[in-house]
Amino acid sequence: MDPILKIDQLSKTFGGFAALNGVNLTVKRGERLGLIGPNGSGKTTLINCISGSLEPSAGHIHFDGRDISAERAHVRTKLGIARSFQIPKPFSSMTVMENLLVPFAFVTGLDGPKERDKAMEILTRMGLADKAHVQSNQLSQVELRKMELARAMAASPKLLISDEAMAGLAGAEVDEVLEILFDLSASGITIIMIEHIMQAVMAFSQRVVCLDTGQIICEGTPQEVVKNPDVQRAYLGD
Ligand SMILES: Nc1ncnc2c1ncn2[C@@H]1O[C@H](COP(=O)(O)OP(=O)(O)OP(=O)(O)O)[C@@H](O)[C@H]1O
Ligand SMILES: [Mg+2]
Repeated sequence: MDPILKIDQLSKTFGGFAALNGVNLTVKRGERLGLIGPNGSGKTTLINCISGSLEPSAGHIHFDGRDISAERAHVRTKLGIARSFQIPKPFSSMTVMENLLVPFAFVTGLDGPKERDKAMEILTRMGLADKAHVQSNQLSQVELRKMELARAMAASPKLLISDEAMAGLAGAEVDEVLEILFDLSASGITIIMIEHIMQAVMAFSQRVVCLDTGQIICEGTPQEVVKNPDVQRAYLGD
């Protein structure tokens, strides 16, 4: 096993409330991992701790062979961790292309024709090429979700964490985003997919981990996890 990400005994408390409580998780290089769990179970908090936007209360995170626990978020981005946001945060007065050039400039320090070509390549891959010069507040919901993923890709990540990239989308649109994530995975990027749309996360994932009240309650193949009584209880209540 060649882990790209290793999380040891990670905890995060807000005041007295434990949003994460002793989470251990190892992600294999190139893996497609699904992260599920009821609302408020700690999924986004876990991602925030991995990407460095939140400081854990305890625990360690290793990425690509090094301890990144003390690294700031922007360093983690440069090391190869990118995430999309559950609530998209576009620069709404900028075009789609400009939205990509911002993270590009951050990673490369450059904003020239080469970066524009690379941005266009990513937009083409996301099916957004014809929207490159449209202002981002003109985008539909699915286009906005694709731009979120495109912005994450601008950092050339080794690990992409998608936080509910399909939320609010209709069936055919879910399939479009799913196809994009499969394509990124096929190019070698490790992907953690957080998703409430079960059909999508089960189709995508080689392995699924279920969080409940800040703890991992089950881990296994999609088939194992859906049948697990603890998972069913977490979702349906007692
Ligand atoms: N900054 C914060 N301050 C206080 N409490 C927080 C903060 N962020 C998250 N929480 C709490 O931590 C718990 C876990 O939240 P989190 O957003 O990680 O859940 P989630 O699994 O992503 O849920 P959802 O599926 O609804 O997105 C929730 O009870 C939430 O209210
Ligand atoms: Mg969340």
